[in-house]
Amino acid sequence: MIPIHPSGAATESVVQRDVQHYMRPGTLQLSSLPPLSLYVHLPWCIKKCPYCDFNSHEITAPKTPLASAPQGGAFGLGRPGAAWLDSMPEQRYADAVIADLEAALPLIWGRSIHSIFIGGGTPSLFAPATIDRLLGDIRARLRLEADCEITMEANPGTFEKDRFSAFAQAGVTRLSIGVQSFNDNHLKALGRVHDRAQALAAVEEAARSFKTFNLDIMYALPGQTLEQVGQDVAQALQFAPPHISIYHLTIEPNTYFAKFPPQIPEDDTAYAMLDHITELTAAAGLERYEVSAYAKAGHRCRHNLNYWQFGDYLGVGAGAHSKLSFAHRVVRQVRFREPRLYMDKALGGNALAQEEEVARADLPFEYMLNALRLRHGFGLRDFCERTGLAITAIEAALQEAERKGLVERDFARVRPTERGFDFLSDLQALFLSNAA
Ligand SMILES: C[S@@+](CC[C@H](N)C(=O)[O-])C[C@H]1O[C@@H](n2cnc3c(N)ncnc32)[C@H](O)[C@@H]1O
Ligand code: SF4
Repeated sequence: MIPIHPSGAATESVVQRDVQHYMRPGTLQLSSLPPLSLYVHLPWCIKKCPYCDFNSHEITAPKTPLASAPQGGAFGLGRPGAAWLDSMPEQRYADAVIADLEAALPLIWGRSIHSIFIGGGTPSLFAPATIDRLLGDIRARLRLEADCEITMEANPGTFEKDRFSAFAQAGVTRLSIGVQSFNDNHLKALGRVHDRAQALAAVEEAARSFKTFNLDIMYALPGQTLEQVGQDVAQALQFAPPHISIYHLTIEPNTYFAKFPPQIPEDDTAYAMLDHITELTAAAGLERYEVSAYAKAGHRCRHNLNYWQFGDYLGVGAGAHSKLSFAHRVVRQVRFREPRLYMDKALGGNALAQEEEVARADLPFEYMLNALRLRHGFGLRDFCERTGLAITAIEAALQEAERKGLVERDFARVRPTERGFDFLSDLQALFLSNAA
């Protein structure tokens, strides 16, 4: 039994197993291991957004009013003062992430890293020197593939001149900017710490400093009209971005918006917005290669593609999730969520809060949940290789999906149809109870 904190979170690490435990015989037979990505979670933000259910924690204001005054100008918002940043112990956290990584190394011996994603929270709150140190420490312990993509998330509220180029010099190859909207009223309604001018300046700087970058945009915002969605997307496209992620705003449980729901557009309006987005992005030469992701040729996100294709990922940092394959099993892990507890645990040698083997019967659904988000679907061989199951495990569900016009297939691949893309959760659900 795992001891549970009154908040509902586990407080004791799960028993750390010898690598032999993961290698023991089992019912699956994986002929090869998939590409392996690394995810690094940096959990702090200037302010918690009312819609956000990510593991992100507001940096806290110090008690003395003087010390809390922002030291204006450095970040768009005014860089939080030094005392403010004390609530975000960068160096200790970086030590903890590296200790966490070292403890996990035996599970990934001999494997090279396909991509790295530094996500949050707001990773761009960390100093470029700390990101440089983190990437150096990672490189000293892991072999990165020659074309390893290294993405970092940035918030325009942390923008300051030369900061983004310093991240590029530290080795980040791709910046992902959380713009959300270019409309000041909508940014305010979303509780964002930045305004339109800061968003424009941040994107301009990203385009200057990075060969490839991404903009996160959200639509179906409180009070937003179809015309305003068009204005946001048109503004984004003016920067000729190689990649845009466009998300429908969802009201997530346990957020401020769940407690005090804003007025958001009706479903029919949201569908019309998505149609408009798809038209505008296609006209600009961006392909909708995944439900929410649009890219120019050669600029798809390698890291997210690996998730969607049921690749492996080791997640280090507070609350990070991992999925790791072995010859006879697929294992999922979760690190401690609360940053201080995580640091203590990781520096103590074991940051694992949860671990479970994916049940054989759950593998088809887990695979489909991601693979069917891709416009190009998946290869039948990939399904067998990554799940260790025979294709017969999903044959009945595939026939049903085909009969309903939700997928099309040939001897090698299965692809969602337009209709399948529009009714994605119905399509995914067909694979729920199809045990091998
Ligand atoms: C971890 S955040 C990105 C970086 C940074 N924290 C920021 O917000 O600027 C990842 C992205 O998920 C999207 N997102 C977060 N919560 C969402 C929600 N409730 N509905 C739709 N998209 C959401 C936002 O577009 C956000 O940029
Ligand atoms: S800045 Fe990003 S991670 Fe932080 S609270 Fe807002 S949406 Fe969540």
